[in-house]
Amino acid sequence: MDTLFTIDYKDYEPGWKTSSRPSARAIILMNDKSQPISPEDKIALVYAKNLGYYKFPGGGIKDREENTTALIREVAEETGLEVIPESIKEYGVVRRLMKSEMLPETIFIQDSFHYFCTVKNSAEGIPAIRKQNLDNYEKDDGFELRFVSLKEAVQTNLQFKSENPSKLVMIARETHVMTKLCGLPELMPRAYAEYLLKSAVAKNPGPWREHSLAVAEAAEKIAIAINEHSALNGNESAIMNPDLAYTCGLLHDIGRQAGHTYIAHVYDGYNFLKSLGYEFAAKICLTHSFNIQSTDEYIGKIDISAEKMEEVKALLAAAKYDDYDRLIQMLDATCGADGTKNLEARMNDVKLRYGYYPESKMKKNFELKEYFEKLMGRNLYEVIK
Ligand SMILES: [Fe+2]
Repeated sequence: MDTLFTIDYKDYEPGWKTSSRPSARAIILMNDKSQPISPEDKIALVYAKNLGYYKFPGGGIKDREENTTALIREVAEETGLEVIPESIKEYGVVRRLMKSEMLPETIFIQDSFHYFCTVKNSAEGIPAIRKQNLDNYEKDDGFELRFVSLKEAVQTNLQFKSENPSKLVMIARETHVMTKLCGLPELMPRAYAEYLLKSAVAKNPGPWREHSLAVAEAAEKIAIAINEHSALNGNESAIMNPDLAYTCGLLHDIGRQAGHTYIAHVYDGYNFLKSLGYEFAAKICLTHSFNIQSTDEYIGKIDISAEKMEEVKALLAAAKYDDYDRLIQMLDATCGADGTKNLEARMNDVKLRYGYYPESKMKKNFELKEYFEKLMGRNLYEVIK
């Protein structure tokens, strides 16, 4: 089966033993299957009404159970729908690796095998629904069958809040599959991004937390302001996704979790988010320090090997800058950790701390400010204050 993406927390030693618990998950589309899947398409999902999230019907494959047998059983248990065995078609697998919470020195591997399938209809031509058979945790979450658009399910999951990391990890995975399935941008639940930042700050506490939060909040506000202005003048191509802007802003400095580093935080942040399966946010980690698309005149030390530096150069040269890259570059240069949101003040502060600030980068930041002010039809500071 094709790999959709891999989620590797790399919080374990490579030599540890492994334990695995594969699962089978169903993609039950209600619309015409001959068309490419769109965000508007309706799908049968499990809605956890006591917590407010959507997931694909499915669950763990038992010992010696066939994947498809598990799929049919799990769909029946969680939703009461009856899968037509002949309709089952592979979609892709998501592999997750992380330190086991149960066993010492063990890597927990979970493969989630996703399958397209259709379900039996009643005489009236609508899906036949039998009684669910839920286990206790499914009852606690309030599992029920819902027919919703993928867009609505993703939107709901983006707002999902929980203090439970394993729930956040699970819902981030489900959301990621949903966005991939229907061609939405690579969105992640806001609470998941907040959890990643919180865990990272715990490893290396510092003012970069406040800086990251300030960039995230400002990025969201600017995206909303751009959308308001675009609606007025019909400039649809300028529309930005506020949730994506927020999470990109929140995670742009995530590489700082490794300690007080310079260009290494760019490299580490990129690789960290990439290993979690988030290519888009990883690219922001890479590009946020280079408003001019080059590693020349990097403000700070080159604290990575020559080999890694070549890698950064090649990745940067291949990157295609879009408005999310540009937005986080500008805000990184605007938002201080002390709550200040002023481009000149922040650039002067950086100049004081690092000894210099290249003229070309300064000029570029002012250009970016102007660029976004034009898209918003408003003054930057008025929007992000
Ligand atoms: Fe940074």
